[in-house]
Amino acid sequence: MRSLEIHGKLGDSVVVVGERLENLSKYLPGEADVIVTDTNVANCYRHAFPSHNLITIGVGEGIKTLETVEKLYRDFLMLGIQRSSFIVGIGGGVVCDITGFAASTYLRGVRFGFVSTTLLSQVDASVGGKNGVNFLGYKNMVGVFSQPEFVICDHRLLGTLPFEEVLSGFGEIIKHAAIEDPALFEYMEKNTKNLLDLDPTAIEKVVFDSVTIKAGVVNRDELETGERRKLNFGHSFGHAVEKMSGLPHGQAVAIGMLMAAELSKRRGLLSSRKLGRLKKLLRAFQLPTRFDTKPDALIEAMKKDKKREKDIIHFVLLEDIGRSVVTEIGLDELQLHVQEIMSG
Ligand SMILES: NC(=O)c1ccc[n+]([C@@H]2O[C@H](COP(=O)([O-])OP(=O)(O)OC[C@H]3O[C@@H](n4cnc5c(N)ncnc54)[C@H](O)[C@@H]3O)[C@@H](O)[C@H]2O)c1
Repeated sequence: MRSLEIHGKLGDSVVVVGERLENLSKYLPGEADVIVTDTNVANCYRHAFPSHNLITIGVGEGIKTLETVEKLYRDFLMLGIQRSSFIVGIGGGVVCDITGFAASTYLRGVRFGFVSTTLLSQVDASVGGKNGVNFLGYKNMVGVFSQPEFVICDHRLLGTLPFEEVLSGFGEIIKHAAIEDPALFEYMEKNTKNLLDLDPTAIEKVVFDSVTIKAGVVNRDELETGERRKLNFGHSFGHAVEKMSGLPHGQAVAIGMLMAAELSKRRGLLSSRKLGRLKKLLRAFQLPTRFDTKPDALIEAMKKDKKREKDIIHFVLLEDIGRSVVTEIGLDELQLHVQEIMSG
């Protein structure tokens, strides 16, 4: 078991990798006043939850809405949740995003922590203090920056996760390696089978390394005014692909990463060999690298990205495996590249 502390302007957070769900009580100031989870996680693990007050929300991206947040506010009111209460979200990125947002805004902020139950939320969604919901079809449009007091990453919970969701998590780990950590990238190349078999030692290593990368970037730029944008590698294309295809987040981001790497190559930053390494690793983790659609339709979907500023998108490009740069690209230039990348 290894832990990592995040000390930010928004508060302190500790991420504990390898801890067990059963030890959750150790991290609580008293009893958990309420636990928020989704139906699937409740079905698998309700027996191990340490609280009587359980709120179960449905499942999937479709419930990441203000309506669900309103339902939580109503339940918090009924349960007499106060400023001194403690709320725990147990689930994947959807549960963590909704719970963090509802807890941070109810009574102007109630203490909260997470148990991450998907690989993706262990390495990405629950670390970094971004909490929010989708709005009118725009992803993560309404939200706050607010740190959970703790995040427990219990790899034993991954055994019940659908394999496709495990693959999505690997997509985000590859993202962290590609932007910041060549050694982690190489480890994933050499240990693909162990990782796909969910070998505990290998999983704990890549989750911890991944969290370390994300925490480092977040510590340096908590409010995403500069370097933190690197974590969006693959997301400008990925969010558009996710919306158009309905693919899970991590898989859409895998396609987005390869497109962003191709864009990096076209701009003379990344060699063909390194682009090939990324493609090979994504494929080794059974992630898609192509999405067939009309280039114009993809550009239209990208225009809805909230990170767009007028006609410019902040794009994360690769200079090397493990080294990235944030660049501004105009929509006109992007349109040209997208047409050629998609026809290639
Ligand atoms: N806040 C952030 O910084 C951040 C970063 C990345 C992604 N996200 C968000 O995270 C979300 C995606 O998260 P996700 O991939 O964890 O999806 P998810 O929360 O929808 O979980 C995926 C599926 O797995 C099920 N599940 C979860 N844990 C399980 C377990 N242990 N056993 C069996 N089934 C289980 C869920 O019920 C769901 O059906 C997206 O909404 C994305 O926007 C947020």
